[in-house]
Parts: sequence; C-alpha cells; structure tokens
Amino acid sequence: MQKFISIKKKVDHIKKKSISVPGDKSLSIRFILLSSLSEGKCTAYNILKSEDVISAIKNIRKLGVRINLKKSKCEVYGKGLFGYKYKKNLILNAGNSGTTARLLCSILIDANYPVKIIGDKSLTKRDMKRVIKPLKLFGAKFQDDNGKLPIQITGSRFTKPIHYNENLGSAQCKSAVMIAALKTFGITKIKSLPSRNHTELLFKNVLNVPIKINNKKKYDLIEVKGRNKIRPFNYKIPGDISSAAFFIVLTLLSKNSKLILKNININPSRIGIIKILRMMGAKIKLFNKQNYKGEINGDILVKSTQNLNSINLDSSLNSSAIDEFLLIFLVASKCKGVSSFINLSELNKKESKRLDWGIKILRMMNVKVVKTKNHGIKIWGKKNFEIKKNYIIKDYLKDHRIFMLSVIAALSLGGNWKIYDPDSFKTSFPTFIKTLNSLGAKIK
Ligand code: S3P
Repeated sequence: MQKFISIKKKVDHIKKKSISVPGDKSLSIRFILLSSLSEGKCTAYNILKSEDVISAIKNIRKLGVRINLKKSKCEVYGKGLFGYKYKKNLILNAGNSGTTARLLCSILIDANYPVKIIGDKSLTKRDMKRVIKPLKLFGAKFQDDNGKLPIQITGSRFTKPIHYNENLGSAQCKSAVMIAALKTFGITKIKSLPSRNHTELLFKNVLNVPIKINNKKKYDLIEVKGRNKIRPFNYKIPGDISSAAFFIVLTLLSKNSKLILKNININPSRIGIIKILRMMGAKIKLFNKQNYKGEINGDILVKSTQNLNSINLDSSLNSSAIDEFLLIFLVASKCKGVSSFINLSELNKKESKRLDWGIKILRMMNVKVVKTKNHGIKIWGKKNFEIKKNYIIKDYLKDHRIFMLSVIAALSLGGNWKIYDPDSFKTSFPTFIKTLNSLGAKIK
C-alpha cells in the first residue's frame, strides 16, 4: 500500500469540457436507511459506492434486510417499519460515517435487544450527545462513553412523540429525530435552525409520510406523524455538490479553463459554496435545472476567474456550505484583500478539526491567517498567489476532505506536496483521482 502521494506539478489548463461526479452521499445513505423501512423492494440508481455508504449498507444487512449492490443500481428489500431482526450482542460499525452513526441511533429506537454502535478513530472522537439527548426523550435508553462511541442503545415499541428544538443547524440531528418519529405513534414537532432538507423532501415526496413543513426566515417548523406504512419506491440519485466543489475550485483557479459539471444536486440548502464563490466574483452558472421529487438538480458551468474579491461573510450561509469551507478558505488565499468568516465551531466537530486544519494548511503555505473570536477566521489573500516549497500533510485522521483539499491546493497553487494516507478519499469520492487525471493532473 502506497504511504503517500506526491504532487509536483500544477494543472495549468482543464482538459475536458464536462464531467459527472458520483451520487450524493447524504441522499445515498438516506436511501439505504429509509428504503429498509418500506414494505418491499426499492431501487436506487447512481448510488454512491464509497466507504461511508458501504458502512450504511453493511449495517442495514446486519439487521436482516437484503441489499443487492449491482453495477448500475442498488436494490433494498424493505421489511417494514418494525421488520429488523435484532440479534443478541449485535454490534454495528459505522466506520468513518457520522451520518450513518447518528441516523442508526434513531432507526434503532425500537430495538428489543441492546445494540452497540462503534466507529473508527475519527468517529470515536465525535459528539453523539446531540442525537442521544432527543432520542432519550422518545424513550430509548443509551449507555455511552460521555456522549462518544461506543454507545449501546436499547429501544422500545412504546416510544412517545416529542417536541424538539434543534439549535445546532445540524441536518443529522434533525433527521435523527424525524426518523425516530416514523416509528412513534402521534405527532413529533421539531423547531430547527436551517440545514440541508433532504430528509424532509424524501418524507414528503417519496415516502408519503404525513409531514408539515413551515420554513420561517430563521428556522423551520416540522411535524411528522408516525407509524404510517411506507410503500416501496425508486430513486435516481443526482451528483454530489460536495464532490463537484473540488473541480469547481480547481477550474476557477486554473487559467483559461471552463468546465461543466452535469446533473448535480443544487438544492438551495446545499449551494452555499456557489453563492459564496459568486460573491467573491467567480464565474459560475447553474442551468438545465429540474425538479426531481422536490430536489433541484442541474448542470454547473464554471470558468477560470482571475480577479477574485475578498469577502466578509456573516453566518447565514454556513450550514449550506458546511462541508466546503476548506475550499472556500483556499479560494480566499487567492483573492485580493482580507476575507473573514464567523461562527464556524461546527467545522471543528467534523471528521477532523477542519477549522484548525484549514488554518494550519494556509499557514504552511505562508498565508497570513488569524483565528478570531466566535470561532471565526481571517485570511489575507493575494491575487497572484503561488507557492513553491515542500509541503507535507499527515496525521489528519484520514479526513477525506483534508486529503482532497490538499490535492486541489497542490494542483492549483503549485509546490512539492507529499500527502499521506492516500486512500482517505474513498470515504466519499472513490473516483476522485481518476477524474482529476482525466482533467489533466498526473497523479499515480
Ligand atoms: C450531513 C449533514 C452535515 C454534513 C455531513 C452530512 C447529512 O452534518 O456535514 O457531511 O447527510 O445530514 P451536520 O448535519 O452535523 O452539520
């Protein structure tokens, strides 16, 4: 197994006209979990075949649900809302996937035997209290290591609906409460700060769950009525904007290039990166927009942009760009002027401490950066910023987005890079290197 990859050459020009990226990770994991609760065979097309999704599949199989993962589709033979087989001493392993771990906690709310959930080194450091707290209110029992994995959940068939105030802006927490509500008689009410709304759209337009959604200016009110049978469904998963984002930024920072990213999920709750980059002056267009079962999918055209401006961002777009901030920081290093971002404490609760890593990588590249009060960051950018030295990225808990960010920094700014743990990207984007090479990179 290769210990690191070396990158010594920038991509000067993007070679291709258009590319696709693999299916959206959030939608792929939600498909696996929710289809397992339906009353029969569900099929997904273009499902993401990455380690996080495979973790979700393996765990749902361990609960007695048949899943066929084929070349072009994934079939899940749902067993109904209460059809899981809970064996004694069952251990589920969520690997690196926070979404899998947190949503599993809720889908196990009826477990009649204790089920243990474990994860890898990175996941074991992450906060599970945020889902344990509301799920306990439903009536589930948890044994946990101070809110961290491993945790053990013992559920109940007599859960009670809850009223919950989700104030982190976390789609995982909101979705965990919504999924527990599916297995609970009565109406569960959630008041939540805005976050990606895939679960709401799936409940409403695909699963036909009785749901009320009231989007206010600063928060959403959601009501879910539980214990309705879910009819089998099919779903075509669009490309993942969080994967597309790496190529958007590479094209933006390259010379005389343009690229179309085809059939990407451009749900308004996910396109913070597009809005922010446009505010910085980036030439990006969304076109061929289509409404598919409530989701908006479309093509993205991005063109190299030489004169990017710095930005003073408030926190209103934070949640819709939460997985893309490392890329936004990289673009800020090539903008004229000082950029500032605030209220990013959630970034340090991801697969690694991404705010701290962003600062570390920028400083390594000799960019002036300060951490500000309220979990913010200020970045002093330079228009013609290029780098030439040697850079080593290691010990980052194999965070897939740190790996991919480092690769894009190397390909767009220059320098001699050694990036360790080169299989990290398989968590979310197994064809990342192959796609980059098709665009003109030469990575072995
Ligand atoms: C996700 C929600 C986000 C995001 C994660 C996937 C989801 O996390 O960072 O990669 O699929 O719901 P939070 O909801 O915790 O912010």
